Amino acid sequence: MTAKARVAILISGRGSNMEALVRASQAADYPAQIVGVISNRPDAKGLDFARTQGLPTAVFQLKSYPDKVATDAAIVSQLEAWRAEWVCLAGFMRVLSADFTRRWWGRLINIHPSLLPKYKGLDTHLRALEAGETEHGCTVHHVVPEIDEGPVIAQARVPVLPGDTPDTLANRVLIEEHKLYPEALAMVIRESQSPR
Ligand code: GRF
Repeated sequence: MTAKARVAILISGRGSNMEALVRASQAADYPAQIVGVISNRPDAKGLDFARTQGLPTAVFQLKSYPDKVATDAAIVSQLEAWRAEWVCLAGFMRVLSADFTRRWWGRLINIHPSLLPKYKGLDTHLRALEAGETEHGCTVHHVVPEIDEGPVIAQARVPVLPGDTPDTLANRVLIEEHKLYPEALAMVIRESQSPR
C-alpha cells in the first residue's frame, strides 16, 4: 500500500477547512495524513482544534522576522522538519513570497470562496450578490505568486437564492468547501502517485 502523503495546513483564523481536512485524513483509506498546522496569528481559533487532535502546531508572525522572505524561510524550515510533502492553504490570509510558491509549486494548494476566475480577493459573497449572480461556489486551485490565480483543480457550485445575504450565501458555500477541499486534495495526491 502507498504510504499516506504528508500534508501541512496553513491557517489564519477559524480553521473550519483545516478541520474538514483533518477529519477526512482520519479515514483509513484517505491518501493523506496531516503532519502539522501553521498559523500566522497566535490567536487563530483553528489552532485549538489542531491541538485537541494532538497535531503539531507552529506560529510564524511577520513581526518576529526582518521581512517576509525571512518569515517564509522559517515556515519552509518547519515544513521540512515535519517532512511535509504537500501544503494546503486554508484561510491563510498572508500572501506568500514568490520564492515560497516556486519552492512548493505543484504541491501547494488553496481554497477560495468563489468560482474562479470570478471574484478573486476579498468579499466574494457580497460581490457575487451585487453582481446579480444566480450561481456561486468555491474553487480549489494550485497556488502561484499572483493572488487567486493558478490552475483550477476542482470547483463546487451552489445556487444564489432570493433573499440571500453575504452570510447566508457564505454558509451555503462553506458546506461545499468542507466537502470539496478533502476531495480535491485526495485527487491531486492520487494523481501524483499513479504511474505515468
Ligand atoms: C474560507 O471561506 C476559504 O475559502 C477562504 O477563507 C475562508 C476560511 O475559513 N480562503 P476557515 O478558516 O477555513 O473556516
